[in-house]
Amino acid sequence: MILTTGGTGYIGSHTVVELLNAGFEVLIVDDLSNSEKEVVQRIEKITNKKVAFEEIDLKNKEKTFAIFEKYPTINAIVHFAASKAVGESVEKPLMYYENNIGSLINLLQASAKYEINNFVFSSSCTVYGQPNVLPVTENTPRCEAESPYGNTKKIAEDILKDTAFADKTFKSIALRYFNPIGAHPTGLIGELPRGVPANLIPFVTQTAFGLRKELSIFGNDYNTPDGTCIRDYINVVDLAKAHVISIKRLLENKNKSNYEFFNIGTGKGSTVLEVVKAFEKSTGVKVNYKIVAKRPGDIEKIWADTTYANIELGWKAETGLEETLASAWKWEKNYRA
Ligand code: UD1
Repeated sequence: MILTTGGTGYIGSHTVVELLNAGFEVLIVDDLSNSEKEVVQRIEKITNKKVAFEEIDLKNKEKTFAIFEKYPTINAIVHFAASKAVGESVEKPLMYYENNIGSLINLLQASAKYEINNFVFSSSCTVYGQPNVLPVTENTPRCEAESPYGNTKKIAEDILKDTAFADKTFKSIALRYFNPIGAHPTGLIGELPRGVPANLIPFVTQTAFGLRKELSIFGNDYNTPDGTCIRDYINVVDLAKAHVISIKRLLENKNKSNYEFFNIGTGKGSTVLEVVKAFEKSTGVKVNYKIVAKRPGDIEKIWADTTYANIELGWKAETGLEETLASAWKWEKNYRA
């Protein structure tokens, strides 16, 4: 059984679907602080399989340990549960360190006690900051974090590395996601931000739907072809599949070292304006936008070199940008219907 923390969240829910499709039993643990319980039924509808669910806050050590007593067949963990808003992390750093680091430590202590040695962690390309050379490979040095959120990802990677060094039986893989977007092709699960979306795609789909007047594009005088920032937008289902491959790699002892990390992106960068145009082309819906001031903390451009993940994991992004954006639109419409 695969313990999936944060399994009702955006990337977690898509990963649970792929784990179930691959034949794994899954237990979701989530505190529902940024997701809905109903996602469990939606996952079951998509897969026609049952999934176990526990509403638990992983900051609670006792309750975290109790999960492993209750589910003795857990043999691997995919750990998503974390806070992820960059701006909020700047305002509430302690909350971010407590949520993202405190819960990781509890989980790792429980894993050690119950001898669960296979651990997949959701990291982020944020650990690279603004790299001097693009695309970024796994050898690109990590830089000083630009936000407490980014720092929690960096520290978490270090904790996993140190744990794997100290305990030779413990194996972990950190997946450094670029920008995950899109939704399940059924339109039953997708990204569900609370309040005004901070991320680009939910803002685009909500604007297209008429919930927002216009998209604000943050800056158009960056050193890029059209002046807007470049990111590597990765389809969330493709991303979810990278977790299934990583879990199998650990369970089958195919990992090359006890702590591994991979870039998970498409290998292709797109500007904000290119994303807006691709959305309009694939959906036929116009997105009103205006150019506004740069957003503090935004990096100019980043995209992944995914060669290592392609070769080592045998994983590759398969879905194109337009198809991915169409899936995000389908989800938005379905959800609001
Ligand atoms: C950030 C984090 C990333 C985190 C992700 C999810 C960094 C460097 N990146 O990604 O680690 O996983 O959030 O929370 O910390 N944009 C607009 N208008 C909008 C919204 C966004 O123009 O209303 C632009 C941004 O300037 C950026 C691009 O769209 O160029 C993507 O922004 P966003 O979706 O917020 O993701 P990142 O900031 O790249």
